[in-house]
Amino acid sequence: MQSIIIAIDGPSSSGKSTLAKQLAATLKYNYVDSGAFYRAATLYFHELGLDLQQHQQLIAALKDIHISNSYNPSTDKWQTFLNGRNVESEIRGITISNLVSEVSAIPEVRSFIVSKLRRYGNEKGIVMDGRDIGTVVFPDAELKIYMTADEKVRSERRFRELKSKGVEVTESQISENLAGRDLLDKTRVMAPLRKADDAIVLDNTNLTKQQQLEQVLKLARLKISERN
Ligand code: DC
Repeated sequence: MQSIIIAIDGPSSSGKSTLAKQLAATLKYNYVDSGAFYRAATLYFHELGLDLQQHQQLIAALKDIHISNSYNPSTDKWQTFLNGRNVESEIRGITISNLVSEVSAIPEVRSFIVSKLRRYGNEKGIVMDGRDIGTVVFPDAELKIYMTADEKVRSERRFRELKSKGVEVTESQISENLAGRDLLDKTRVMAPLRKADDAIVLDNTNLTKQQQLEQVLKLARLKISERN
């Protein structure tokens, strides 16, 4: 059975990772959260105390960054590792959330991470979510989904998610962070967030997780059958 690449893009907290993980589990595919790579690089620079305006210093530090992700069956969760250290909870906090869009707008950082992400596509059988997966990382992905949802709904979702993880944050911090990141992600010069011409739009404002999974699974199975 031939596998495919599924690219899921969309603004912050539109439900991309929830859908991507569900799809990966159902299809027995690998899952890669590309945002976690940008977050981990941001954490690395932040911990080194580098000035994010000093791009040459950041670029010089890239060679020392190794990022990977893996599934932990005992917790049923995907985890991100930065130079061998599990940084999954640190990269989700508000400090990194407020810095990551600035870092991810730097062309050399993007090229570095895109080349790492592309390696995951060599064997197909992958679901990757982010902002530029269908447009830049895997422009030939067999299935591309562009997810959207109302800004208020996205903000409430992110607030609940972080609260449940014990992250100290207020609702207004979340909505400011989302609005700021959406703007930066959509207006940056290199690989801005946009729908690929051949992506299918999925607005999940009024969909349950199960409904969105069923809709996309149908599309995925069709694409898989076309390849076999
Ligand atoms: O998906 P996320 O919210 O964890 O992503 C964090 C940031 O990383 C997001 O604000 C923009 C950036 N990002 C990106 O530029 N390109 C991607 N493919 C994924 C994320």
